[in-house]
Amino acid sequence: MQQEPRIADLLTFALLCVLESVSYTRKDGQYLRWDHRSGRRQGKIPFDKGKILPFDDAVVAKLEEMISDLRSDGVPGDLFAPPPVARGPIRLHAGSCLEILPELCSRTFDCIITSPPYCNRYDYTRTYALELAYLGVSEEQLVKLRQEMVSCTVENREKDLLRMRREWKTALAVANEHPLLRMILAYLESEREQGRLNNNGIPRMVRGYFYEMACVIQECARVLRDGAPVVMVNDNVRYAGVSISVDIILSEFAESLGFELDAILILPSGKGNSSQQMGLHGRAPLRKCVYVWKKRK
Ligand SMILES: C[S@@+](CC[C@H](N)C(=O)[O-])C[C@H]1O[C@@H](n2cnc3c(N)ncnc32)[C@H](O)[C@@H]1O
Repeated sequence: MQQEPRIADLLTFALLCVLESVSYTRKDGQYLRWDHRSGRRQGKIPFDKGKILPFDDAVVAKLEEMISDLRSDGVPGDLFAPPPVARGPIRLHAGSCLEILPELCSRTFDCIITSPPYCNRYDYTRTYALELAYLGVSEEQLVKLRQEMVSCTVENREKDLLRMRREWKTALAVANEHPLLRMILAYLESEREQGRLNNNGIPRMVRGYFYEMACVIQECARVLRDGAPVVMVNDNVRYAGVSISVDIILSEFAESLGFELDAILILPSGKGNSSQQMGLHGRAPLRKCVYVWKKRK
């Protein structure tokens, strides 16, 4: 692409948008599923993702969609025109929030809007395998990336959070002393010891998730100005028959780490647990929520 860099960026963006539609794969929750035409091993019911578009058709359709979006009301005709109102600088930070947040100055942000990983065993390095392959990420880098992510897969090893940042002593104590979390972790551990979990990494993942999220919440409180909100979307989860109220636990962490709870907004379509869990333990709707916390003045 010997183009003007901004145009090259747009073309790359269009390409990333169509990557899945031109591939033999489909994102499917925790996995990237292989279509039967890929020649890869299939389960009992071979997977057919439907039409696989030729690359030219897919990328042209995507570019046309982008052009039509840009021509809709309220969007300036010239994509590269200077904005009509002054905007703040946009800075993208590449890396883990556990590394980046501690580098940001205290009391400088007016709002945080976030969709962190859910505690649901999704492995984003698998879901985004196509995009990562396109970016040239090697197998070794993939393993490192998986470990750096917020723990939400059974493959995550424990992170030495105190060594990463001494100040997280506060957050770790909040997580450690949370009565409901303690009960859940003790229950999962006993289920593991009795060989009743379908994966022995589940207690470590759940523990890692909450301890890491406590550190993230402590950092959010530090970087926000007084009264500034955090808006977070997240799902509750269920393991070994026990529903884990991620919304209540994280909101109580937030209250102990400098926030007031403004609202936990429950999204309308409550969904069930995984089919495996449903078969074993019956259907229990799991809340999907948006939490709103305000930094205490
Ligand atoms: C629930 S998804 C949200 C996706 C997002 N809303 C989007 O549309 O791309 C959680 C995202 O958090 C990212 N993530 C996981 N661990 C992270 C970390 N330590 N730092 C920053 N992002 C992380 C995952 O890669 C994933 O893209």
